[in-house]
Amino acid sequence: MDPQTAKVVLSLDAEAVDLLKEGINFKKNPEDNKCYIIYKSEDSYRACKNQCKHQGGQFVKDIEDLDGSTVKCTKHNWKLNVSTMKYVNPPDSFMQDELEVEVMEDGGLQLVELNPEDPWLSDPRETLELQPGEVQVTYLTHACMELKLGSCKFLFDPWLQGPAFARGWWLMHEPPADWRERLCGADLIYISHMHSDHLSYPSLEVLSKKRPDMPIYVGDTSRPVFWYLKQSKVKLTNINVVPFGIWQNVNEHLRFMILMDGVHPEMDTCIIVQYKGHMILNTVDCTRPNGGRLPQNVALMMSDFAGGASGFPMTFYGGKYTDSWKAEFIKNERKKLLNYKASLVKTLQPKVYCPFAGYFVEAHPSDRIIFNVTFSLCLLLQIHKETNTKNSAADLNALINKRAPEVLTWTPVPGAVLDLGLALRDPTDSQAVSVPVQTKVYKDNWAFDVYVNEQNKAVSADIFSYRDWIPFYYSWAGFKDYNLVVRVIETKDDFEPLPGGYDYLVDFSDLTFPVKRPSREHSYLELKNRVEQDQQRPRRLSPQVLEPLSDQPPAAETGLGPVFGESAIQRV
Ligand code: FES
Repeated sequence: MDPQTAKVVLSLDAEAVDLLKEGINFKKNPEDNKCYIIYKSEDSYRACKNQCKHQGGQFVKDIEDLDGSTVKCTKHNWKLNVSTMKYVNPPDSFMQDELEVEVMEDGGLQLVELNPEDPWLSDPRETLELQPGEVQVTYLTHACMELKLGSCKFLFDPWLQGPAFARGWWLMHEPPADWRERLCGADLIYISHMHSDHLSYPSLEVLSKKRPDMPIYVGDTSRPVFWYLKQSKVKLTNINVVPFGIWQNVNEHLRFMILMDGVHPEMDTCIIVQYKGHMILNTVDCTRPNGGRLPQNVALMMSDFAGGASGFPMTFYGGKYTDSWKAEFIKNERKKLLNYKASLVKTLQPKVYCPFAGYFVEAHPSDRIIFNVTFSLCLLLQIHKETNTKNSAADLNALINKRAPEVLTWTPVPGAVLDLGLALRDPTDSQAVSVPVQTKVYKDNWAFDVYVNEQNKAVSADIFSYRDWIPFYYSWAGFKDYNLVVRVIETKDDFEPLPGGYDYLVDFSDLTFPVKRPSREHSYLELKNRVEQDQQRPRRLSPQVLEPLSDQPPAAETGLGPVFGESAIQRV
């Protein structure tokens, strides 16, 4: 079977998107003359091929339709409501296959076709009854779950110690005391994507000392998950990159399939695990897992609940970015996410649902400074705990209990166990969920210095030492042709300028580095980079030839370039 692919079938630029009207829009790809329908409702879109499910006829506007959401087939008059993608004539008959709509950062839009759409339907397995204790799901921390499936232990996304996103995120939950044994005692591990709250090198370092040959599975994303393996110095020798949408057989009863995200296919993945015919769906952080097409009635579904890691808008200050604007924006975004997750669960009807992957805290003392920072200290960065509210797993489950009471919800604490066999047999069985007694739930000690001292060493790395390497970095990043000027200022933790720190302008219209802001009208941002003040950085003259110093690869190779540690990584 061929792996699942994602193909862009129609691209519209920002101007064409602006011209889309509310309701139905008929579009043709000028390159292959294939036709599509885009339904616009405020700022959201649905799309499908202009092809009738009956015998492939073409749709036109239905002149009898009063609310502007129905199209009519020119062959035998079937009718499709494009706002719901349901055929209304014949009534209660078919659903139209949808295309994934990706809104681009530049305001353009792409229609993407996944092929096949439902790869988990291939090679179906008979569903066998699960015995008590046969399938046990244990929550460890954040996005880390341990699945005992018969005799096999499968672990997801082990972030079990250390920070994520430099010193930004720290574990909220204290993992069970035996987490090291559980990590090293697993039979296989899935890592969903490269973000450091899922791919945690401090956690994998523990694993590498005992089980460097642990089979680790990742999706075949265009941005390799383990791009930093060699530089991390963590020794792992059995990393397997698997194609999307293909069952990977573990044993007679157990298999899994990795699927891509519709919004970030280059980076994000999700997974379906199947044991004795029962499916466990983990959508992790995907914004639109598998383009929105997911299996219904799975035994267990788990997903994130907290919202993205983006610094927007919390790290913005000035202009419209007042505290009240940010609070309102975040409140609405969180509410939207909660509603989206609740309606997804209602549609998919899993037997059990568990929100996870949102248990982090900005615990480092430097972020307490941010909480208390005053306007005069901070031009740009400002975070207030009250403003930056987060969703809670309990809130999401309460909403689901209201909207889909037939779904059993689970809000675990570290070490809590779900016995899937018992839960499926009788959702009211109190034995189906067990909670550990007298264990610490929340962390109160993170050993900051161990990790932050290591990170701070990077401040004096060669890569930052040469002023004329700055243009090199921006050329590599490739972001240009925008009427935007950014001033980058290195500061101390309190946002005061760092003595001897960099302070420069970048003009993104032509990637130049002027000493003064240009006189033309332009968008302007100031970006403050906090740098550990005790670390003095040597300033050097640039070598004539910009070759990497010591064994540090050039920046161009560290992001999207070759995979390091290639010998440890194989394609399956
Ligand atoms: S092909 Fe559309 S109604 Fe028959």
